[in-house]
Amino acid sequence: MIEIKKIISAAIAERIQSMNAAAGLDAAAVEAMLEYPPDDKMGDIALPCFKLSRVLRSSPVKIAADLAEGFSTPAVARAEALNGYFNIYLDAEYMARKLMSEVAEKGERYGAPEIGEGKTVVLDYSSPNVAKPFHIGHLGTTVIGHSLRKLHEFAGYKCVGINYLGDWGTQFGKLIVAYRMWGNKELIENGGIDKLVELYVKFHEEAEKEPTLNEKARAEFHKLEEGDEENIALWRWFVDISLAEYQKTYKQLGIEFDSYKGESFYTDKMPAQVQKLRDMGLMKIDDGASIVDLEEYGMPPCLILKRDGSTLYPTRDIAAAVYRKQTYDFDKAIYVTSAGQSLHFKQWFKVVELMGYDWHDKLVHVPYGTVSINGEKLATRTGNVILLKDLFALAVDKVRAIMEEKNPDLRGREDIAEAVGIGAVVFYYLSGSRMKDINFVMEEALSFDGNTGPYVQYTYARSCSVLEKGGEIDLDGDIVITAKEEKDLVKTLLTFEEKVREAIDTYEPSVIIRYILDVASAFNRFYHNCTILGAEDEKVKNTRLMLAGAVKTVLGNAFELVCIKKTEKI
Ligand code: ARG
Repeated sequence: MIEIKKIISAAIAERIQSMNAAAGLDAAAVEAMLEYPPDDKMGDIALPCFKLSRVLRSSPVKIAADLAEGFSTPAVARAEALNGYFNIYLDAEYMARKLMSEVAEKGERYGAPEIGEGKTVVLDYSSPNVAKPFHIGHLGTTVIGHSLRKLHEFAGYKCVGINYLGDWGTQFGKLIVAYRMWGNKELIENGGIDKLVELYVKFHEEAEKEPTLNEKARAEFHKLEEGDEENIALWRWFVDISLAEYQKTYKQLGIEFDSYKGESFYTDKMPAQVQKLRDMGLMKIDDGASIVDLEEYGMPPCLILKRDGSTLYPTRDIAAAVYRKQTYDFDKAIYVTSAGQSLHFKQWFKVVELMGYDWHDKLVHVPYGTVSINGEKLATRTGNVILLKDLFALAVDKVRAIMEEKNPDLRGREDIAEAVGIGAVVFYYLSGSRMKDINFVMEEALSFDGNTGPYVQYTYARSCSVLEKGGEIDLDGDIVITAKEEKDLVKTLLTFEEKVREAIDTYEPSVIIRYILDVASAFNRFYHNCTILGAEDEKVKNTRLMLAGAVKTVLGNAFELVCIKKTEKI
């Protein structure tokens, strides 16, 4: 609708100019005032004229009436004044032609706002902590992060996806101790990350009884920091095993990263930043630790060095941001984590500002709400976690069973079961606004009824099957719109680009999910109420097939943006 809105606002601005030359309102200002009425009985686009009262020194009712008087422009079928609103009814065939030509011209780029060209966005997401379970709590950062990446890429930004692995810290001292005491090579080689997690958990249990274990762990981590060869080799092995496991999950989601530089990478990059803080007089000693006081900004101090001189989470984030700015010269650096880390990001963003880095305002933290399972908080200790790989396996099993029953001869069934099963989980997760806490209920996540992933994937497959049966389409043929469902569908398909912009501006993949549901419902209404293949009039049939084609393109493009795979058949 963006272009149609532009045409209309230009026409309105011209009118206003002739009504009152001193008003000084340009088309862009008018465009910003346009609204989509909640009910199409009030037009397809409307201008609430109270927004003009002040500049035009007139009542909304009068302004609306003046605008409506003899208003005409190509996109508009009719326009009328009602209760201070200027309501515009668009010409359905004009809109349909616009849609078809754009879809034909742009294809996989249809809906893409060209706003990112020449700009780079760095996205830090997923970033699990090595040797800790990769569970449902990580689903948010992984799929929101990847979706934001896809959205930015779609808009023309160059994107760098970074998996900032939690691959450094005292947990490795613990793991090394635990491995030497209770583990061995075969155990880990065969059992992978699960065995590492078991060792880690066992360490905590034993350390409760035997606190000296903690000292041992610290000593081993210290040796690791000092570059002890044996410890380094173990550490690298633990990281590799974990990464191989994560990669299986990423593959299922269709996710790839450009960089896996984790926390360990920044070890030798921190001293320079710490020195800079010291030189600038920003650092203070507090009970032996080095901090940056942020009281003035209403925040607790940002911890830079522990009493023993070792670095902390914020120290590493500061060094990493400096490195990324130097390496990628980003226009925006996005960090996706749970809202529990919001203060951490506010604090170190402030420190970066105080350090005089003029790019501090390009750092963006994108938080999301917490996940609970069946109403209970996640807890690794009590076992109230669901591993992502188990969750995906359950979802795929369920889809496979349904498909075996309903469509036993389908070819490529395994791939489709995987796409639909995982799509169901992702769709469920991304449906609500990101800040909303999620209570994960397995039956709901894997339900196929109502507004779910399988429903929209099924709708996509339906558009494919209509097109397959419909045969050749004449893309230059006349466009004839006869039914309300057709016009509604055209309108919905035309708003895709606006939704993409909204999703980018608000960092909200859920905007795309809701849009996908709108398209699916408009298409299904059209499909049920308008005969497509059996339409008697050739022009009507051709138009309807073109519409099905536009649906396939739009749904397909939108799926790409939210980690949902396209399924031509189900
Ligand atoms: N590894 C951290 C965690 O699991 C998340 C890292 C987020 N990114 C960052 N640059 N701090 O909590």
